[in-house]
Order: sequence, then C-alpha cells, then structure tokens
Amino acid sequence: MSITITWHGHATFSLNVNGTKLVVDPFFDGNPAAKVAAADVAADYILLTHGHGDHIADTLPIAQRTGAMVISNFEIYTWLAAKGNANGHGQSIGGGYHHPFGHVKMTIAFHGSSLPDGSYGGMPGGFLLTLDGKRIYIAGDTALYSDMALIGQGGLDVAILPIGDNYTMGPDDALLALGYLKPKVVIPCHYNTWPVIAVDAEAWAERVRQETESEPVVLAVEGSYTL
Ligand code: NI
Ligand code: MN
Repeated sequence: MSITITWHGHATFSLNVNGTKLVVDPFFDGNPAAKVAAADVAADYILLTHGHGDHIADTLPIAQRTGAMVISNFEIYTWLAAKGNANGHGQSIGGGYHHPFGHVKMTIAFHGSSLPDGSYGGMPGGFLLTLDGKRIYIAGDTALYSDMALIGQGGLDVAILPIGDNYTMGPDDALLALGYLKPKVVIPCHYNTWPVIAVDAEAWAERVRQETESEPVVLAVEGSYTL
C-alpha cells in the first residue's frame, strides 16, 4: 500500500494510490511552471476544486483521451457533460462518496468558481481524501478560515495548501492554517507560477519548522512525496 503525491507546478498534483492515478486540477499546457504536456498525462480520475481556468484547464482533453472520471462539484459536472464529457461524478460541499480508490469529501473554500466561458461554476471547494487510512486535505484556492479546525479533527497525514498570496492565502495565513489543521506534513502550492504569486518557499518552510508542529515538504516541479 502506498500513496505517492507528485507536484506538476501551480495547484496541479497527481496522486498514485496503489496504482490508481488521480490528477488534481490538471493545468499543464498553459502552466508556465509545468514540465509535462497534457498529452502525456495518465489519469484514471481527475479531481477539480473549482472552475477557474488555471484549475479546469486541460481537463476535457485529458478526460477524453484517457477516459478518466472527472470528480467535481455538481455545476462543473453538468458544464463538462454539456461539453461532451460522459464520465463525471458530481458532489457538493460537505458531501462525501466512496469511490473505488477511496473516500472523497468536498470541503468549503473561500474563493470564486466561474468557468472559462463565464458560466456559473458553483461553490469552490477543496478535498478531504481518505485513502488507505491516510487522510489528505487539498485546500484548493482559498482564504484562511477557522473551520479548518473541523477538517483537522481526526488527524491529517498531509495538507496541501496554497501560499502564493494575492489570489489565495499567503505565507502568513498558511502558517495560521497549520494551527487549525495540524497536519503531520504540509506541501505548499499555488506560488511562483507568475510574478504576482512569487514566494520564497524555503523561507516559508523554515518558519513552518520554527512555528508549527508540521513538517514542510517543498516539492520541486515533478518532485514527489510518498507516504
Ligand atoms: Ni481560482
Ligand atoms: Mn487558482
């Protein structure tokens, strides 16, 4: 049993869960930080936190080529279905579902979720994944919120948090988030893609070590963490 988390730059991750490939917010071809082309991505499932272009991005071509099931909120599920995606699963905030690879619960996020064509994309979210008894929280694009304490209840093995500021939590608020979430490991994302979200991640990681109980894991693009 193993779970490997790979960062592809920005908020794009893949998780290999005992051989099942999950891709979160697949932003490859327009992503200045990415080193992999969308055409080369393998996926069994695609998880979308919200509808913004830097998250939904390459979803349709990857889903069409691989046949991957797209897991998203209900509004994005219906939008993708109208675009021709036949293999989707809609959930809503607070709702969980036992997928073949593990349990997926959608969590709140304070952000927007309009779709690239201006359509209403429903509420933005994050994901609380329970995979092989491991609990992984993917915050999505969000501000800090104190109900993160509820997500931390029961323990978290990994939290994936945005730290880039401007569009999401910045480094200071991400440290406060760790006080609520108390994960064993924190992986930062949504930074350094563009100058407006430039962050010194190593300096932030040192503050995590000094000021929290969590272990920071700063991944290089295409770097992985296995738990
Ligand atoms: Ni966004
Ligand atoms: Mn974003």
